[in-house]
Amino acid sequence: MQKLTITRPDDWHLHLRDGAALKAVLPHTVRQFARAIVMPNLKPPVRSVAEAAAYRDRILAAIPVGQRFEPLMTLYLTDNTPPEEIIAAQAAKFIKAVKYYPAGATTNSDSGVTDIQKCDRVFDAMQQIDMPLLLHGEVTAADVDMFDREKVFIEKHLMPLKQRFPHLRVVLEHVTTADAVDFVMATHNVAATITPQHLLFSRNILFQGGLRPHYYCLPILKRETHRQALLKAATSGDPKFFLGTDSAPHPRDGKESACGCAGCFSALHAIELYAEAFESVDALDKLEAFASFYGPDFYRLPRNPESITLTKTTWRIPDEVPFGKSGLVPLRAGEEMTWQMTS
Ligand code: NCD
Ligand code: ZN
Repeated sequence: MQKLTITRPDDWHLHLRDGAALKAVLPHTVRQFARAIVMPNLKPPVRSVAEAAAYRDRILAAIPVGQRFEPLMTLYLTDNTPPEEIIAAQAAKFIKAVKYYPAGATTNSDSGVTDIQKCDRVFDAMQQIDMPLLLHGEVTAADVDMFDREKVFIEKHLMPLKQRFPHLRVVLEHVTTADAVDFVMATHNVAATITPQHLLFSRNILFQGGLRPHYYCLPILKRETHRQALLKAATSGDPKFFLGTDSAPHPRDGKESACGCAGCFSALHAIELYAEAFESVDALDKLEAFASFYGPDFYRLPRNPESITLTKTTWRIPDEVPFGKSGLVPLRAGEEMTWQMTS
């Protein structure tokens, strides 16, 4: 196949940051995607409808002139989020979900939830009004091995949560394990996003020829058997699995550091990365539904009317792209891609 035309995709998990960083990264997403679920982990986080409205305005102001893009906003859940804020979020229309971060799990998650049961009143309200809950599904306990944190979260927190709130619609974000795939497939009202890095790489890449900080994201890459389970789920045609890049830009010096930040930047070439992953298992025919149908179907939004075209051609991913004072290193920087979005 030399050309692939698909319905314009959306990104169901994206970090856009704020200020100069927002202005630097947003055009990349706008070029490929019509809409994105925008993560609320700013500093301070986006906790209220008023903060989400202000952030949305800053995003809209940063869209390149003449282009169209719809930011779908989320609220950052804390121990103290009042159920009334969720009701107000629903009324605000532009807020599409609530994001749960376990306190301390990842970038800017200090205000996250310390004990998920503390939020039961909020979950009850969400279940009643059908507001989706987006989960960073990892435990943070120091005695749990880094590579087991997703599996333990599912067993210890997510299974009980789904028993307490069976109708609550949940997205287990950026799934990384076969355990997560099995859980999602088996549980009503649970879907999952999958990132390009978790489809393309196992944890070996983190140490290939030396320590490779630009492949460090959370949840961390897992062993090859898990990657294969994710690829199988993404290409299975199961509508529970859809595209969410988790593109999470950090300045080069924040990544290349004695204590580097977690996050891979993929907004530059996201759809091409997914195309390569799907092609690797001869499943390009499944890309469109994963990238452009199942996400809007889950969020009960219309599918996009426009389309994009990918062309089979070789091009080199730049070593870095502009990002304020420091550069931003894209995922797989300097390497060759075999698909390119051409229109
Ligand atoms: C994200 C970030 O940098 O905001 N990092 C990451 O590795 N995915 C936070 C997150 O989604 O966990
Ligand atoms: Zn994320």
